[in-house]
Amino acid sequence: MKSTLVFLVFFTVQLTFANDMVWSKTGHRTTGEVAQAHLSRRAKRAIFKLLDGQDLAKVSTFGDDIKSDKNFKKYSPWHYVNFPSDKKYTEVAPSEHGDIVVGIQKCIAVLKDKKSSREDKVFYLKFLVHLMGDLHQPLHVGHAEDKGGNDIQLQWFKKGTNLHRVWDSNMIDQYGMSYTELASSLPKLNKKQKEYIQSGSLYDWVEESQDLANKVYASVKIGDNLSYRYSYVWWGTVESQLQKGGLRLAKVLNSIF
Ligand code: ADE
Ligand code: ZN
Ligand code: ZN
Repeated sequence: MKSTLVFLVFFTVQLTFANDMVWSKTGHRTTGEVAQAHLSRRAKRAIFKLLDGQDLAKVSTFGDDIKSDKNFKKYSPWHYVNFPSDKKYTEVAPSEHGDIVVGIQKCIAVLKDKKSSREDKVFYLKFLVHLMGDLHQPLHVGHAEDKGGNDIQLQWFKKGTNLHRVWDSNMIDQYGMSYTELASSLPKLNKKQKEYIQSGSLYDWVEESQDLANKVYASVKIGDNLSYRYSYVWWGTVESQLQKGGLRLAKVLNSIF
């Protein structure tokens, strides 16, 4: 009995910390679900084969799932990029450890290469689904000095949190919808609106997240206790980011397959 209790406490603590710094599973799955619905027939078939029938929502959390495995440590810097708010990504020397842009480009290159092994294609496809989600969490295009908002301490309904976590998970979790509910309740867009969102390059999308991150940084003061009002102001942006991530992921996949 006692050992069960010790285990439970340990497990809960582990879970609490494991939740740190990741665009919530619900967020990633929503983006996967949106992308799945916008795949071409060809891409859908090729992806179905590579993923043995799993859909994009299912594999969207893979990038975070492997974080606990030391063998995959070198991929940790792929989840984000930090650079000064008055510079563009292309104006700053890239990190030698890689970043989210380098990561996405590598995934695309492996998937396009006819010589890639099936095993590599599966790995980089799952990672790509994940990284396109992360790219649309604005604070994954953040500032190095505060680790993308992780060092900006705040309260969420009187409980300790930080700005990064508010955007990764607090707002999404508090909204209380499953990923399928969220995906199907996103604004209905027409063909033109979708094409507009899908236009542009990876660098344009990075810049867009950076612009948004600058607004997000300006939306709080250290120690603020955020609650309903913050979600009221920003929820539409969260939804829009989840939707953009999905539409752009579909565009990238349709052009690969
Ligand atoms: N660690 C350091 N910077 C980060 C960022 N922008 N996003 C997530 N994790 C980080
Ligand atoms: Zn995060
Ligand atoms: Zn991630």
